[in-house]
Amino acid sequence: MKLAVVGLQWGDEGKGKVVDYLAKDFDIDARFQGGTNAGHTVRHEDREVIFHQVPCGVLNKGVIGVVGAGCVFDPAIFFSELSNLKKINPKIEECIKISKYCHLIMPYHILIDKIREESKQGIGTTKKGIGPAYEDKYARVGLRVGDLFNQEFFKERLRANISRKNLMLMEIYHAEPLSDSEIFDKYMDYAKKLKPIVINDAAYLNDALTKGKNIIFEGAQGTLLDIDFGTYPYVTSSHTVSGSVGVGLGLPPFYVEQVLGVAKAYTTRVGFGPFPTESTEEFGKSLREIGKEYGATTGRPRRCGPFDAAIVKYAAQLNGVKEIVLTKFDVLSSFDKLKIAVGYTNAPAFDPFIADRLEPSYEEIPGFKKDISKIRDYDALPDEAKEYLKLIEHYTGLKIKYISVGPERNAVIRL
Ligand code: IMP
Repeated sequence: MKLAVVGLQWGDEGKGKVVDYLAKDFDIDARFQGGTNAGHTVRHEDREVIFHQVPCGVLNKGVIGVVGAGCVFDPAIFFSELSNLKKINPKIEECIKISKYCHLIMPYHILIDKIREESKQGIGTTKKGIGPAYEDKYARVGLRVGDLFNQEFFKERLRANISRKNLMLMEIYHAEPLSDSEIFDKYMDYAKKLKPIVINDAAYLNDALTKGKNIIFEGAQGTLLDIDFGTYPYVTSSHTVSGSVGVGLGLPPFYVEQVLGVAKAYTTRVGFGPFPTESTEEFGKSLREIGKEYGATTGRPRRCGPFDAAIVKYAAQLNGVKEIVLTKFDVLSSFDKLKIAVGYTNAPAFDPFIADRLEPSYEEIPGFKKDISKIRDYDALPDEAKEYLKLIEHYTGLKIKYISVGPERNAVIRL
């Protein structure tokens, strides 16, 4: 089986939990885009584990995690994540492979991201250097994981990059210049440690597929953050849609057999940008507190609001999604009334170009007012909860296949 898991909102839909839950049936969990901006939270036994760089399926026995060519890679964050993961599995390194084609996130990328965010250009990024690293990739001046093993080339390109960045840092941002020798030494140290796990991901994955292995493709961020199809310019710097799986891993597109969409039972977003159903009132505030809606990467409070069927429908079409996982349904259990946006009064469908002007129309139903976190069987759900699920299916045209009702791996209702 080859299955892609993608987010249908603005990220933070709970893809981490979904991948962790499904990965036991796969041999490989491959990330195809994004970098340390991702914050995939997984509850493993009694601890909460947050993955930024490592594919989160690796907590399942026998699953190999691959960081693909389409990702950007920060060795500093990777090694700190690895030392945390070693507390769970001391041999975790044997389960992780990094593409030699992956572009490196360098200290100057993080610095530039932070400086920009403090200026008028800020869009509310995670300040992890993602945008500047992808910029260098497409400007064809980036450094790749494989370059770490060609010292002379690495040194020369690093020096050239730093002298250009220093010009920009000093002239435009009036910041201190960087020294290349310190960065060089640090990255050569990473090189030694990374050597055994660096691979040609395209060759590795094509070979695995020829041998009949099963792969789960782990998306990061969400469709509304896609560089082309999201709410530009308030987006991330990669393609978050399922079409990105092939190019991000060096695979022909026909290998993506199924795409499972993940949507939260309400909507959240971090960072700036349009959000038609945002609630700045009591409802939104309660969602944030009950749902613990604070960024896994930055700790920022997430903006919250009702489920928006039109954006999920839009995202599903872009990804080829027919079935979804609805997450955090248990968070809705204390509200007297629940509403979902079923469309807009001033537009026939969601369109990112006019997202800041859309006026949602809502359908409201009574809340279910019952703790559903222990329920594992659809029939045991309160009627009002079933009604909410039916509304979502009706207005999105999608089939709900799983419902997540708590952070634990098995807190899932299968339909
Ligand atoms: P960047 O990806 O750090 O450049 O941030 C660009 C936009 O994407 C900002 O609005 C971020 O808050 C958002 N973003 C990036 N990664 C994630 C994520 O994993 N979850 C939710 N939002 C994200």
